[in-house]
Parts: sequence; C-alpha cells; structure tokens
Amino acid sequence: MKRLWLLPICMVVMLLTVRLLGQKHAIQEIPLPYTSPVSGREMFHSYCADCHGLDGKGNGPVAAVLKIMPPDLTTLAQRNQGSFPYDRVFNIISGDATITSHGNREMPVWGPVFRQMDKSQRGKAKLRIKTLTNYVASLQAQTK
Ligand code: HEC
Repeated sequence: MKRLWLLPICMVVMLLTVRLLGQKHAIQEIPLPYTSPVSGREMFHSYCADCHGLDGKGNGPVAAVLKIMPPDLTTLAQRNQGSFPYDRVFNIISGDATITSHGNREMPVWGPVFRQMDKSQRGKAKLRIKTLTNYVASLQAQTK
C-alpha cells in the first residue's frame, strides 16, 4: 500500500511506450495523408502535385531531382489525336502499364498503395484511380 504513488508513473511510462511504438509503426506503413476517394483534386494535390505540379504541367518541387522530367499532364489528349487516353492513364496510375521504353520508371506505382490505404474496403482503390483519371482528364488544355 505504501508504493501506491508508483502507479501513475507506471501508467505514464506505459502510455508513452505505446505512443512511440504506434508512431514508428505508422511511419513504416503509409506516410501518406488520407484523402477522400471521390475528390480527384484532393488526391492529385496530395499524391501527384509534388512531381507533376498543382496544374499538372510538370513543374512540381520534386521534378528537379528526378532523372526523367514528369510529362505535362494537360496535353495528354492533344498528344493522342485529341482524345484523352483514359485506359492508358488509368493503367499508368495503377502500375499495370509500363511508361518508359527503357530504364526504370520514376513514377511511383499507386495501385498497391491505395489498396493498402483502404484495406478493409474492396473496390476503393479502383475508385481512387478512376477519380484520379477523371481529374487528369479534366486538366486537359482546351484546343479549339
Ligand atoms: C515521384 C514523382 C511522381 C509522382 C509522385 C507522380 N508522378 Fe506521374 N510521372 C512521373 C514521371 C517521372 C513520369 C514519366 C515516366 C516515368 O519515368 O516514370 C510520370 C508519368 C505520368 C503519366 C504518363 C504521362 C504521359 O505523358 O505519358 C501519368 C498519366 C501520370 N504520371 C500521372 C500521375 C498521377 C495521377 C499521379 C498521382 C497519383 C502521379 N503521376 C504521381 C513522376 C511522378
């Protein structure tokens, strides 16, 4: 009964340990912010803009350190006889399509990342990639 004062100290130490372990775990798992799977804008700003730029033109802050410059995502339709290459873009984001003709791809593969992010909800990752593809489509430069 005399050492009862030790109890709160033990509890604080325990809580701190749990928090520190939790943090370490979180960092190893996904260091990405959670976004709404139906907001293309939010996802693009969080996951793509560092390289592709907020406007998709390829001038994000990380672009300078890449070996390959991120392509301008606003001219995808223009470069494809005026029609947006929906399936190709979808597959590039998911990681099912190869982009570079040689060497290693510099762009991250998002399919597994999104599947991990919404582990408990089947189909969510696909929804994210669809939403992102539609968002990239909406960035296409208007040509008259
Ligand atoms: C780490 C930087 C980086 C991030 C983050 C990134 N990309 Fe890319 N992206 C690239 C690079 C570099 C290429 C050129 C091909 C290559 O080397 O991988 C590319 C290519 C592409 C292409 C093909 C463009 C073309 O002209 O063929 C699309 C579409 C694309 N990215 C969309 C996205 C989307 C959507 C996201 C976010 C979910 C994203 N990228 C995130 C760097 C990045």
